[in-house]
Amino acid sequence: MSEMMQEIVLASRPSGAPHPENFRLESHALPEPAEGEVLVRVHYMSLDPYMRGRMDDAKSYAAPVPIGGRMEAGGVGEVIASNSPHFAPGDFAFGMFGWASHGCLPAKELRKLDPNQGPITAALGVLGMPGFTGWHGLSAYGRPKAGETLVVAAATGPVGSMVGQLAKQAGLRVVGIAGGAEKCKLAVETFGFDACLDHYAYDDAKSLRKELANACPQGIDIYFENVAGKVLEAVLPLMNSHGRIPICGMISWYNAGALGAGASDNVLTGPNIWRNILVKFLSVNGFIISNHFDRYPEFLKEVGPLVAKGEVRFLEDTAEGLENAPKAFMSMLKGGNKGKQIVKLI
Ligand SMILES: NC(=O)c1ccc[n+]([C@@H]2O[C@H](COP(=O)([O-])OP(=O)(O)OC[C@H]3O[C@@H](n4cnc5c(N)ncnc54)[C@H](OP(=O)(O)O)[C@@H]3O)[C@@H](O)[C@H]2O)c1
Repeated sequence: MSEMMQEIVLASRPSGAPHPENFRLESHALPEPAEGEVLVRVHYMSLDPYMRGRMDDAKSYAAPVPIGGRMEAGGVGEVIASNSPHFAPGDFAFGMFGWASHGCLPAKELRKLDPNQGPITAALGVLGMPGFTGWHGLSAYGRPKAGETLVVAAATGPVGSMVGQLAKQAGLRVVGIAGGAEKCKLAVETFGFDACLDHYAYDDAKSLRKELANACPQGIDIYFENVAGKVLEAVLPLMNSHGRIPICGMISWYNAGALGAGASDNVLTGPNIWRNILVKFLSVNGFIISNHFDRYPEFLKEVGPLVAKGEVRFLEDTAEGLENAPKAFMSMLKGGNKGKQIVKLI
């Protein structure tokens, strides 16, 4: 039988946390690249928190995945057929192939990778969208200064670990928040954080805040927002005047749906949040990295050599097989990943 492609489509929209029945594995004939297109066999695909948002039928910065549509994802793989002068079989490339074993895209939507320059998986994590997000968010909105204190949660993930390591190199005190003692150990020992608190060890924001105040004796100048919820509640009253909060993500609220926004009695109310921002002159910047890819070459130029020299370290967590992508994705949303979650397809 000739080679088939497999893909995972959105079978139904989740209400709350996603379940296996929200996904469906399908097989199709391999597409033929049209004029200017390239067919890639995907070796690794990326699983990222933003994909949870795409499963909701809600207005956002990007359209939702339609029911029956392929789940979105970046991937890296080998060109197996090309109808473009820019790619030849045997080349490696990054592209938005989706949750799929193969992808057929216009050559201009692909980025060529050199497998001799390091693992191609780096293009999904440390030198890909998440690492770039950490670098951009920190430099553009965090504006770190030596001697300041930065707090970031999801500290061992690809965004948090990039933020923490770059802030440390810039001379800041860096305090992480992560899920569990093992991740906290990783944050300190592998990524060089000064301290890391386990958010599961605190029942409420008040107790987490007390410990965070001890870990940040000079207050907090930059809170790089990845998770919101209890961590945000703990952090906000500890912010120093003229502090900065790049709002990158709020994963603790993603399963509440885009409109639910995690509204609950445990969360700071709108007036409290806004009063804190006002009276502390905080700079709060939301951003979506897809609007800033003009800075990507600058990021690669600056951070690529740091990764090559081991001065920026990274962790990858690899699930095996496209059919296991939903399970790995559901686990990642709950913190089951240690480092960048990827899926090995072949
Ligand atoms: N704005 C943008 O353009 C952009 C781009 C990329 C990523 N992001 C955002 O950046 C954040 C981190 O992304 P990533 O790719 O680096 O993810 P990641 O750290 O690999 O995975 C998500 C992590 O979130 C943490 N988490 C999940 N639920 C939580 C909760 N209720 N409370 C506290 N922590 C929780 C878990 O870490 P622990 O086990 O350590 O708690 C989990 O491992 C996400 O919010 C993502 O949406 C935004």
